[in-house]
Amino acid sequence: MNVLTFASNEELSAYAADYILDLVRAKPDAVLGLATGETPIGVYEQLVDRHRKSQISLRQVKAFNLDEYAGLSPDHEQSYQVYMRKHLFSGIDLPPEQAYIPCGIADDLWAAARDYDRLLNEAGPLDLQLLGIGHNGHIGFNEPGEELNAETHVVKLTEETRAANSRYFQSLAEVPQYAVTMGVGPIMRAKQVLLIVRGENKAGVLKKALYGPVTTRCPASLLQLHPRLTVLLDEGAAKEL
Ligand code: F6R
Repeated sequence: MNVLTFASNEELSAYAADYILDLVRAKPDAVLGLATGETPIGVYEQLVDRHRKSQISLRQVKAFNLDEYAGLSPDHEQSYQVYMRKHLFSGIDLPPEQAYIPCGIADDLWAAARDYDRLLNEAGPLDLQLLGIGHNGHIGFNEPGEELNAETHVVKLTEETRAANSRYFQSLAEVPQYAVTMGVGPIMRAKQVLLIVRGENKAGVLKKALYGPVTTRCPASLLQLHPRLTVLLDEGAAKEL
């Protein structure tokens, strides 16, 4: 595992954006696993900026997002569809039909999840999976528990996750109870994983994830078993390492 600490979010995001674009330069048809949340916003900003300035094209890239809330339509303000269009897809030349996000509104969410795995398997393995980490150690919406799912699945969000994400909604009651998430299989099969962690409030869970026991109680701890893990931190997140 390669752990790098940066003095500012700007530097961290710039490093991550360069890392991703270097991969795309070397492999123009790269398959990328993408995350949402607060952490990667700076990375996406810098990707868009670099794309504009360098003319590096992402039109052969395929992108698979980790997760989506169940019950939010693709144009709901807090859906990850809207997030991705707003922060990344509207600013790069990745064709919309090559940008996959789990479906949160299918009549049969489980059937849609199986379709997502089929697409992932046809395109995969992922060349790179970009990850954040939840306060409870989740990756994607793979929540801590007695077991983890390898495949895409419907998950009941923990109250901790709903509370953490309620800052984007009018009230806690509006935060969906369920989500659809990629399982840990494609994440662990990704050729490389880029984990980004920011803020002192993630320092404790990060320490557990990187150096604690490997356990389904802290899904991110599985990453200790990944053969090519790069961790990008700010100084707050690095505090307990
Ligand atoms: C988002 C995702 C989540 C987030 C995690 C951290 O697609 O998969 O695992 O990475 O909840 O979120 P932020 O960055 O908002 O702290």
